Amino acid sequence: MIKARALKKNFGEFCAVNDLTLEIRQGECFGLLGPNGAGKSTFIGMTYGSVERTAGELSVFGLDPATHARVIKKRMGVVTQENALDESLTVFENMLIYCAFIGVPSQERHKRVTDLLEYMNLAHKKDDRILALSGGMKRRLVFVRALLGNPELLILDEPTTGLDPAVRHLLWGKVKELRQEGTTILLTTHYMHEAEVLCDRLVIMNKGKVAAEGSPAKLITEHTPGHVGIYNFDSREELKSLAEKKDFIFLEDSSGIYLRASRMEDLLSTGIPALQLRPANLEDVFLKLTGTELATDA
Ligand SMILES: Nc1ncnc2c1ncn2[C@@H]1O[C@H](COP(=O)(O)OP(=O)(O)OP(=O)(O)O)[C@@H](O)[C@H]1O
Ligand SMILES: [Mg+2]
Repeated sequence: MIKARALKKNFGEFCAVNDLTLEIRQGECFGLLGPNGAGKSTFIGMTYGSVERTAGELSVFGLDPATHARVIKKRMGVVTQENALDESLTVFENMLIYCAFIGVPSQERHKRVTDLLEYMNLAHKKDDRILALSGGMKRRLVFVRALLGNPELLILDEPTTGLDPAVRHLLWGKVKELRQEGTTILLTTHYMHEAEVLCDRLVIMNKGKVAAEGSPAKLITEHTPGHVGIYNFDSREELKSLAEKKDFIFLEDSSGIYLRASRMEDLLSTGIPALQLRPANLEDVFLKLTGTELATDA
């Protein structure tokens, strides 16, 4: 569906996407993770021709976005990071205008919009102006907008930022449903749990490059296998010497002390009470692979 090879984007001297190679296959939900500024939105912009690439190869549906942006855009739906809704118009008007823009036949527009507003629990807001919507409602509406053209490829750039847990779960359900119906999905998110729940495969990008690639389970097994205990700073010295003695991984950041061991029992047997004990997850992988850059970029 999307193939990138040695893809590069420079903004002046600055290289935002640097030698990016990846492939998103038909029918999968593919995650693009990475710290702020890693180049995720820039890559997404390149897939539909809104950002011009500097070098490398890129194809979407087998077409080059540099020359076939119009055709590509007709076949994809995008939840952009910025909402870009017309604040002075109503919900319904916004969606109708977008239908016209992407060429939905006029006799189908009314029903398409009504059905999708219903689908995202926004029907009761249809005559409200965008100004009067909450942040989460606007996000849901952008999701509706992305689905208006029945896209084969759905690109979601941080779709759930600012959504409450219930709405986030609702959206996950929709994404799963769409994937089951055969839609290919490209998702960026800063919620590692979301990526674990939704993505078949993902890459972690850092400084414009792929730092790791695989299924969530494979990435965890490869980079941070085992169980993690989170502690406050009171037992720091004790935890540090324990880690050295028992060969646990010891990490600390401003939020606390992290011990990683093969088994949960290893952590329990230390006798030091943890704030939390859990299996290692994608957040551990993310922090391991991008941690130092996060600190310098913050
Ligand atoms: N139009 C532009 N002109 C100059 N620099 C840009 C432009 N767009 C993006 N950048 C820079 O490129 C880098 C990558 O930005 P991008 O928006 O792709 O990051 P991102 O991975 O989407 O981050 P976030 O998680 O914060 O959304 C950043 O350093 C950003 O400042
Ligand atoms: Mg972004």
